[in-house]
Amino acid sequence: MTADSGLVERLRRERDELARELERARAGATFAEAVENSSEAIVVYDADGLLVACNQNFRDLYGYTAEEAKPGVHFAELGRIDVERGNVVVGDEFGGGEAYLQRKAEYRARLQGSFIVRLKDGRWIKTTDRPMRRGGFVSVQVDVTDIKNNEEELRLAKEQAEEANRLKSEFLANISHDLRTPLNSIIGFSDMILSEAWGPVGHEKYREYIDAIKYSGELLLGLVGDILDTARLESGRYRLDETEVDLPALSRALAATFEPVVASKDLDLAVEAAPGFPATARADERVVAQVVNNLVANACKHTGPRGRVRVQWSLRPGGRVRLTVRDNGPGMPPALVAKVGEPFLQPGAYVAQDGPRGTGLGLFICKRFAEIMGGVMEICSSPGAGTAVSVEWPLSETAERRAKSG
Ligand SMILES: Nc1ncnc2c1ncn2[C@@H]1O[C@H](COP(=O)(O)OP(=O)(O)O)[C@@H](O)[C@H]1O
Ligand SMILES: [Mg+2]
Repeated sequence: MTADSGLVERLRRERDELARELERARAGATFAEAVENSSEAIVVYDADGLLVACNQNFRDLYGYTAEEAKPGVHFAELGRIDVERGNVVVGDEFGGGEAYLQRKAEYRARLQGSFIVRLKDGRWIKTTDRPMRRGGFVSVQVDVTDIKNNEEELRLAKEQAEEANRLKSEFLANISHDLRTPLNSIIGFSDMILSEAWGPVGHEKYREYIDAIKYSGELLLGLVGDILDTARLESGRYRLDETEVDLPALSRALAATFEPVVASKDLDLAVEAAPGFPATARADERVVAQVVNNLVANACKHTGPRGRVRVQWSLRPGGRVRLTVRDNGPGMPPALVAKVGEPFLQPGAYVAQDGPRGTGLGLFICKRFAEIMGGVMEICSSPGAGTAVSVEWPLSETAERRAKSG
């Protein structure tokens, strides 16, 4: 190789190196221009917290002059300007002023996550700072006012909806309560007349009418009770009131009240407790009674003449108690089974043709009561194969759950 060719080689290398440097400079300039034209406010501080560079958006956002937001100024200095001018009125949830400066300093010591401030013109700004390789950090500040406002609107709408729902439940609870009083007197006085307490009923037709009045009164009382329970459950204010209850004995007492329908349809209704079932268990008697009552009422209502209805109590592994009300009635179509547990099951093909129409709240109430006791309700039913509705809940946990939810 000659001296000349060595020189040429070196010049060539230097030329390539210069070209690469030019390329890098161009890329840098392009990037700097992109930062300047970015829609966000961007600022870079060095390891000592001194400003290295920022774009015009950054100055505009806080109203800094070029003199104030110049290289070499500390971010705390700019923060002080914010506080003095009242630029930042809310430092996230912690308030503005010194608390804001303190929090900003703490955030910048960690450089994790983001924090949000509100400016005096009402804009919400989200700042996200990230460390740079050679120390210092880059801070990107985005206007999130739209998002914040949407959040606020959603929150307000949700609050209003909850309030409206609460008022509805309260209204239902009050009106149901007020409806019960006159109904009880209608039923009570019908009873008195039927028993001919103060002398005989003059005409057989009158006896029939009083019978019908009493029957309708009881029906209405049942519906009002369903609505009241639903309102209580919906308002989420149902509190369990537990005592020691003999569950099979309670069920037998309730089953006895179905005597009229049992007699008229010649039903075979019985309560069974599995061997070893505890004599008493802690439970909310009213809740259990309501569940047994609704399930037995359904079974008796839908099962045809000489049908069989069983109320069965058993213990399941893990200290769970299980109630099953089983009938050999017509069963339920799958479409209805799928909907059970929704309130107000709409009258349709599946509504019982014989007997009075219900509110469609009975099974909904049972399901919710089961859940309140920390348990579940299951339905096993198909057309022609009868229906078995089970409610299963943990015996020991209920007191614990109540403590948690109370
Ligand atoms: N044991 C049952 N056998 C057949 N159908 C039933 C049975 N229990 C409930 N159903 C059906 O489920 C529907 C909803 O029951 P429920 O929630 O108790 O409301 P309601 O009794 O007021 O109609 C009933 O209308 C009936 O069609
Ligand atoms: Mg019912």
